[in-house]
Amino acid sequence: MSLPPKDAKIFVAGHAGLIGSALVRCLNKAGYTNLVIRSRQQLELQNADQVTAFFEAEKPQYVLLAAGRVGGILENQTLPADFINENLAIALNVLRAAHQADVKRLILFGSSCMYPKETAQPMPEEALLSGHPEPTSLPYAIAKLAGVHLCLAYNRQYGEQRFIPVIPNSAYGPNDNFDPKSGHVLSALMARFHQAKLDGADTVTLWGSGTPRREFIHADDIAAACLMLLRNDLPQLSLPLNLGSGADISIRELAETMKRVVGYEGELDWDSTKPDGALRKLLDSSRLRQLGWQSQISFEDGLRDTYDWYRQQ
Ligand SMILES: NC(=O)c1ccc[n+]([C@@H]2O[C@H](COP(=O)([O-])OP(=O)(O)OC[C@H]3O[C@@H](n4cnc5c(N)ncnc54)[C@H](OP(=O)(O)O)[C@@H]3O)[C@@H](O)[C@H]2O)c1
Repeated sequence: MSLPPKDAKIFVAGHAGLIGSALVRCLNKAGYTNLVIRSRQQLELQNADQVTAFFEAEKPQYVLLAAGRVGGILENQTLPADFINENLAIALNVLRAAHQADVKRLILFGSSCMYPKETAQPMPEEALLSGHPEPTSLPYAIAKLAGVHLCLAYNRQYGEQRFIPVIPNSAYGPNDNFDPKSGHVLSALMARFHQAKLDGADTVTLWGSGTPRREFIHADDIAAACLMLLRNDLPQLSLPLNLGSGADISIRELAETMKRVVGYEGELDWDSTKPDGALRKLLDSSRLRQLGWQSQISFEDGLRDTYDWYRQQ
């Protein structure tokens, strides 16, 4: 495998977030010394002029685009215009500037909610656009689909393979958003169990039956896959690449494992009057595995690592 040289100039957009911070950790660990990072105050990616000026001045050779507007169901429902607008603007501005600046390789993050609501499991990349995504996150999904197709369109029009869209399943790890209102299911649950442990609460009530299954992937696993995708000898790809751990677990198993990791000793109360959501969301990541990547972090180890980080905050 022929990876970029250790002094390659790599721009990590969204370096302080869940996936961006994992990319920085991974690149540092692999010996990359020339990372370019900017806070949002220094570089607002929704501002096309700022983005163009940044690329002209810095000329990064590689771009990992982990900046975006992300949130749970509630935020997606209440701020749909912000979700579509911000993610579209970021993709448009960064890809155009990266193209003009002759970036060698860019990785863009799609999302598993781009897949149609009713898709056979595990979901292969061919299933994209074969039906309607879940309505609650449709504006976000549309922006993400636009970003993916922007990558594929640039590649096709210019006969190159510079922009690689990847589709991680639900990510978790240090620097996740642990707010019970705006965070994703795993991080919000960790925060709730932690609080219940501190309060000595007898029970934690959870929505639904606990039977739906979800696939979680540690952000460090995502970062390792992205580094592999910067290789010069990447075979030709005509589709985005799913990026999942390959194993799904039920929400009940998630809650039991989380309870053990956090050390909460109360009971779980399942409120089956509340909706369950999709029964299963598992990505078929066999294409990525054929390229030589494999998830390295077991779910329980990943949760322990995340909880250690959370407790230190
Ligand atoms: N988390 C997941 O489960 C998951 C799964 C699949 C795909 N993805 C995708 O992966 C990417 C990263 O997700 P994440 O979970 O790491 O998100 P995150 O933790 O919320 O981090 C996003 C980062 O992007 C920055 N950012 C947002 N808007 C920006 C803007 N307009 N200009 C400059 N910086 C901006 C944020 O900075 P501020 O905090 O200062 O705003 C933050 O540092 C997103 O595109 C997301 O759609 C995430």
